[in-house]
Amino acid sequence: MTFTIAIDGPAAAGKGTLSRRIAQTYGYHHLDTGLTYRATAKALLDAGLPLDDEAVAEGMALKVDLSGLDRSVLSAHAIGEAASKIAVMPAVRRALVEAQRAFAEREPGTVIDGRDIGTVVCPDAPVKLYVTAAPEVRARRRYDEILASGKEADFDTIFADVKLRDERDMGRADSPLKPAADAHLLDTSEMSIEAAFEAASVIIDAALKKD
Ligand code: DC
Repeated sequence: MTFTIAIDGPAAAGKGTLSRRIAQTYGYHHLDTGLTYRATAKALLDAGLPLDDEAVAEGMALKVDLSGLDRSVLSAHAIGEAASKIAVMPAVRRALVEAQRAFAEREPGTVIDGRDIGTVVCPDAPVKLYVTAAPEVRARRRYDEILASGKEADFDTIFADVKLRDERDMGRADSPLKPAADAHLLDTSEMSIEAAFEAASVIIDAALKKD
């Protein structure tokens, strides 16, 4: 039996950093499912194909290779925007969710993060975390990250983007972002990544004892 840790939350809440840290500590495989939506969107953009044709987008989603997801390429802002547009399409979600569920079977365990992991992809996961933070805090983190990488950024634009992305992710009809009924909420607005990791570890260790 494998062990699955499902982590959901809005953009820039710190779930990526937390997920990688958990996967490293527990020796589990990690999948950032946002990258699967991003890889699909990038393939469409690269091929000059439209982002509003569900059958075309589904075809690309079926071809996504989970072993070839390159975060440094896929993290581009334009790819994120395109990803959130195709993520509203049920056929795209079906194709990617199937690949994500197959990943969740890997031994000895997996950490899977996204928007619908605890609710749709792995509803039986023994650990579900919902990681969130106030929109201003998330925008500030993204802004600081961009400045730290030596690029320029405008806080108001980023803040507006964060709110728009939330609306799209929480407002879509198919698999909207929301905490699973049995998810543990972690609000990282005033919490360091270290503190968030400590809180998550207590929850994971308790579930592992029961397993
Ligand atoms: O987490 P991210 O910014 O890499 O995600 C990019 C987009 O993909 C996001 O706007 C919503 C979508 N997404 C989704 O719908 N379901 C997931 N499990 C993960 C991401």
